[in-house]
This record gives sequence, structure tokens and C-alpha cells, in this order.
Amino acid sequence: MPSILIVDDEETIRQTFRDVLELSGHDVVVAESFSDAKEYLNDTRFDVALTDLMLPQESGLSLLRYAAEHDETMSVVMVTGHPDLSSAVSALKEGAYDYLTKPVTTQALLAVVQRASERNSLLREKRRLEAENEDYQRSLERKVRERTERLRESEKRYRELFQETRRAYDELKQTQEKLIRSERLAAVGELAAQIAHEIRNPLGAISNSVGVLRRDLDLTGDDKRLMEVVSAESQRLEGIIADFLRFARPRPIHKAKEQITHVLDDLLLLLSQEQAERSAIRIEKYYEPDLPEVALDSAQTREALWNLIVNAVEAMPAGGQLLVSAARSARDDFLEVTVTDSGKGIRDDEADKIFEPFHTTKADGTGLGLAIVQRVVESHGGEVTVESQEGRGSSFRLRFPMSSETSSNARKPIESRP
Ligand SMILES: Nc1ncnc2c1ncn2[C@@H]1O[C@H](COP(=O)(O)OP(=O)(O)OP(=O)(O)O)[C@@H](O)[C@H]1O
Ligand SMILES: [Mg+2]
Repeated sequence: MPSILIVDDEETIRQTFRDVLELSGHDVVVAESFSDAKEYLNDTRFDVALTDLMLPQESGLSLLRYAAEHDETMSVVMVTGHPDLSSAVSALKEGAYDYLTKPVTTQALLAVVQRASERNSLLREKRRLEAENEDYQRSLERKVRERTERLRESEKRYRELFQETRRAYDELKQTQEKLIRSERLAAVGELAAQIAHEIRNPLGAISNSVGVLRRDLDLTGDDKRLMEVVSAESQRLEGIIADFLRFARPRPIHKAKEQITHVLDDLLLLLSQEQAERSAIRIEKYYEPDLPEVALDSAQTREALWNLIVNAVEAMPAGGQLLVSAARSARDDFLEVTVTDSGKGIRDDEADKIFEPFHTTKADGTGLGLAIVQRVVESHGGEVTVESQEGRGSSFRLRFPMSSETSSNARKPIESRP
């Protein structure tokens, strides 16, 4: 039910208005002055305020201004006597809803209160809808922001996934290509090993027969020279076949505790005898004192180290320095052997190919020396690395595990290097 505030200094007006309005079902509060009215306004919301324009202290306009500031949904109706009609008009301009001129008829009073209440409830409904709309707008904006953010995140995730998938695909492709290459090489290698095996026996027979003929025939001149060529070349072929078979069909590793410096001393002694009359190669060695024994396949390790030493010598045709060292690794439980020469060195673009089987830059090389070195060291659970500078020399480093847990007895089939 609409609640009405009546402000008038005339007792009869207050009383009459209250009676009429209460009779028609309104809640009515009356006040004599604006300051009284203000107290009611502080606690209660009114739908309509009827105020006399001329009040004892402050005019009815104060109520109008108060309403404009505190509750614009309250409709203020001015009640005036004839003389101040013009001020009622200016009150309308200031926002008064309507005005009544005295004497006010019951009908006019009820009509204006009803219209004001209707306008008032429409206004409140409008405000409520506006507030609701604003809330809705805000929540809509928030939802749009959230969804956009989620969309952005899922797009980012999608991109990452796409990149990951692409990377994985590339890796898979590379691995697959590598596998195909190594499978193919393994098949070719096995075939070649079978052929080499078949060649070995007749070649041995040829070589032996040539040896006998060389000894028994008393050849001279060109015939003698040709016989020498046949003999040397058949021996070289035997060497190649033996190397190849060693590479293609590796023997299993049989390890026993061994002092690596003894192995190195034996090889250096052999070298110094072979080299004695031939070239000006200075041999130097450095062994860290008290090195422990290491589990090694003696024969295969000797062969690997010999391959390195031969390569070093071949890299110094005009002489140079060969340094062999053995020491504990500074960073882990490995024993490191290095073979360093002051020879021609390795070009950067060659460096990653030198361990490939059959890669050689030598006219009579097979290109299996380093492939065998790598296989032997890796089957001991170790690794081989090289540092080289073209024109300055090269240094090959073999690392053997000192404790048996890190070493392995793996026997590896023919494989390609990546
Ligand atoms: N100490 C070194 N200095 C310079 N180049 C080297 C050295 N050791 C190896 N190389 C290069 O690596 C290539 C491969 O060496 P690897 O021992 O596998 O085969 P090779 O010596 O050519 O033939 P072989 O099978 O007779 O040993 C050599 O041809 C050479 O170009
Ligand atoms: Mg070699």
C-alpha cells in the first residue's frame, strides 16, 4: 500500500488530507515542518510526499531538493495557495511531480496521489529492471571475459600440443630412417661377412702357394717383381678380410683384471722396434702413479690401442711426437687413456665420419680401425672421444670404467653410426 508523507503547518489541512487518504487505504505520516519531515525521511521510504510550498522556516522546495538528492523515486506534490502559483510552476521545473491549489478537493487529492503512486511504482520497477539489466550485463561481460580467456588458453595448449606432436613425429621419422639405414647396413654387412668368410680360405691357399712358389722358383727381372707384387697384394687382401671379419663378427669380450700401463708398454715397445730405422717419431708417455687394475679383454684392448697408435704414426709421415698417457678421470670413476699425435689433424667436416666403418682418407686404408676401436671400448662400457686441430695434431681419449657395475659385456651386431 502506498505510503504518503504530508507536510503542512496548518493543522486542519494535515488532518483532512490524512483522513481522506487513510480512508482510501494509504499509510499516512504527517509533519508540521521540513525539519520534522526530514526525521521521518531518514527512517522511512515514502511513495508520495505532499508538501505545502510555504512552510514556516524552510519552503517546500527544500523537500524537493532533499528528495532529488536522497530518493528520486519519491514523487513530490506541491500544495499552494493561489498567490504562489508561479512559484509552484518553478517547483515543477525543479522536478516536482505536480501541484495542487488550495482549497484541494478530495477528488483532486486522491487523483494526484494515485497518479503519483503509479508513476512511482513504474519508476521503481524501471530502476529495478535497470539494476537487473546492469547485473546481467556485468555477468555477461564477466562470462565473455572468462570464456575468451579459456579459449585463449586452450588455443595456446593446442599450439603447444601441435608443436609437441610435430617434434615427436620428426623424431620418430629420424629414428625410423636411422633404423632402416642400420637394418640395411646390418643385412649388407652380414652378406659381406659371409662373402669374406668364403674368400678367406681360397685366399689363404693362394697366399700359401705364392709363398711356396716364391721360395722355390728362381725368378729374375720382371717375373721376380711380379711375384713380389702378387705376394704383397695377397697378404694385404688377407689383412683386409681379417679386419673386416673382426669388425663384422665381433668376438665376445673376456675380461680379466689387467694393468693398462703394461698393455701400453708392450705396444710402445713393439712400435719402437718397428719404427726404429724408419721415421723420426719421438715417443713419450705419462702414467699417473698407482693406477688400479681394470677389467679388460686383453687381446681386443691391445688391438684397439694398436689401431690408434698406427693411425697416429700414419698421421706423421715426416715424424713428430706421440704421447701416450693413462690417468684416473678427474670427474668420475673411469680410467682414461689418451693417444696424442702432432700430425696432420682431422678436418672439422671429417670429424663426425671417422668412426664410420669403411670411412678412410688413405689410399690403402680399409677404414675399419676406428670402428673397431669404438666397438671394443663401448663393449667394455666405456667411450671414445677425439679432439683434433687440422695441421696441429689429434688426441683420442678412451675411457674404461674402473668399477665393474658400469662396465658391460654387450656384444654388438654391425650397426651404422648416426
Ligand atoms: N691420428 C689421426 N690423425 C689424423 N687423421 C686420423 C687419425 N686417426 C684417424 N684419422 C682419420 O680417420 C680415418 C679413419 O681411420 P681408421 O683407422 O678407421 O681407418 P684407416 O686408418 O683409414 O684405415 P685402417 O682400416 O687401415 O685403419 C682415417 O682415414 C683418417 O682420415
Ligand atoms: Mg687406421
